Amino acid sequence: MTKPIPHLTYSQYLKVEELLELQAPLTTPSAPDELLFIITHQSYELWFKLVIHELDRVIQHLNNDRLFPAFHLLERVSEVFKNLIHQLDILETMTPVAFNQFRSQLNPASGFQSWQFRELELMAGGHTSDYSKLAAVEPEWYARLKARGDKPNLRTVFLSLIKKRGLAQHPENRDELLKAILSIYEQPIQDELQTLCEFLIRVDEQIILWRFRHVQMVERMIGMKHGTGGSLGVPYLETTLKKKFFPELWQARTAMGTDSY
Ligand code: HEM
Repeated sequence: MTKPIPHLTYSQYLKVEELLELQAPLTTPSAPDELLFIITHQSYELWFKLVIHELDRVIQHLNNDRLFPAFHLLERVSEVFKNLIHQLDILETMTPVAFNQFRSQLNPASGFQSWQFRELELMAGGHTSDYSKLAAVEPEWYARLKARGDKPNLRTVFLSLIKKRGLAQHPENRDELLKAILSIYEQPIQDELQTLCEFLIRVDEQIILWRFRHVQMVERMIGMKHGTGGSLGVPYLETTLKKKFFPELWQARTAMGTDSY
């Protein structure tokens, strides 16, 4: 066990001094809301760090056929996203006028370049938006994302589990996967694979809800202006609302039950 540090204080442990040095508004005092904007984004990045850490653990557990310890970690990830959705309420106390006082300073930086968000998309098993522009500006993050793309992700370990349990020979085939999922849902509710499916769809749902909440807030802040990252803004973000990491879990719902409305 690590030896305790004598007389350790709260600030030393949490590096509070260093932390409080990290907010550097470009425009204060002329744009007092810039501090809110920076703190919101920084706290998001901290939570993204935790999500990446937990998803790594979930992937390892599932890879080793240990489902139970993965459940509460998946629940943690969902709860983090719930919290992130609520954080946008605080950001929305900023008016568009207050935002416009510093928005032009941000150009061309954008949440689009949040490489941790891209990494968690890859870890969940999704295709992330094109991040090749990162290669020129932040080569180390680009390399990290490329490496992440080659590792097992939540989706690939889920498919392997289905294969290992003999529910599908080729789970990468959509029809086989759908059949396997339906057979899982025919099991009693306490079946561990069914519980896993429910945790996975919950994470998927929370991330989708975050995307919805973000795009609504963006429209409230900037209307139909283009993004600082150079995209069309709201119309671009609306195209991301269809992204699902486990589309088959959603599609299976249509085929469940005996009703054929
Ligand atoms: C005033 C607040 C905000 C505005 C106006 C805003 C606006 C935008 C716009 C217009 C885009 C599209 C890319 C571009 O052209 O820039 C975008 C993308 C993005 N933003 Fe925000 N954003 C805000 C707050 C946030 C916050 C607090 C986060 C948290 C990290 C965030 C994370 C992201 C991410 C991850 C993307 C990429 C989405 C994707 O490509 O799937 N944004 N944002």
